[in-house]
Amino acid sequence: MSQLERYFITQLAANYAAENVKYGDVVLDATMGNGKDTLLLSKLAGETGKTYAFDVQKLALDNTSKLIKDNCAKATLILDSHDKIDEYIDEELSFAMYNLGYLPGGDKAITTKKDISLLSIRKCMKMIKVGGMITVCLYPGHEKGLEEAVGIESYLSGKSPKDYFVLKTGNINIEKGPFLIMIKKLR
Ligand SMILES: C[S@@+](CC[C@H](N)C(=O)[O-])C[C@H]1O[C@@H](n2cnc3c(N)ncnc32)[C@H](O)[C@@H]1O
Repeated sequence: MSQLERYFITQLAANYAAENVKYGDVVLDATMGNGKDTLLLSKLAGETGKTYAFDVQKLALDNTSKLIKDNCAKATLILDSHDKIDEYIDEELSFAMYNLGYLPGGDKAITTKKDISLLSIRKCMKMIKVGGMITVCLYPGHEKGLEEAVGIESYLSGKSPKDYFVLKTGNINIEKGPFLIMIKKLR
């Protein structure tokens, strides 16, 4: 997968965040990685908001912590799996980002997995307030990513359009190219 393809969907997710996150919001980065999305969310939610970020890798937490400090931002960084979000967050979320897969430049064996990601997204859909939004970047170009993308898409396709607006965006001219799912809670 080229950087351009990856960039395309993560940038779209960032655009959704920029359009929807308001000062004072409570937001979630479910996969902090190198911290780019955590920093973006933290800046958008501002001084009065709250940003929670999860990752299972200490390296991700260290990189994100440095980025947040260097930019005088603030975020609650949690070294744990995102399927435990409800154990750490006891308030409604306005926006959540999932950039699934492995840490760019890191160990490709440490990647998100279908069952865990699905459990987390299902919990997040309950924790998101009405009118709130979740973005999910998926990478079916590798084996685990394909399994995950199929599982998540299949689950979301069963949700009532009265409850959730669910939009899929991806290239139609790239086989197994990455794609973005945007979920907006309607009621
Ligand atoms: C594509 S990267 C995220 C990139 C990140 N958003 C950024 O801005 O740099 C995916 C991350 O998910 C993390 N991850 C894998 N399994 C996870 C889990 N169960 N819970 C939380 N994070 C997980 C990986 O360690 C990796 O850092």
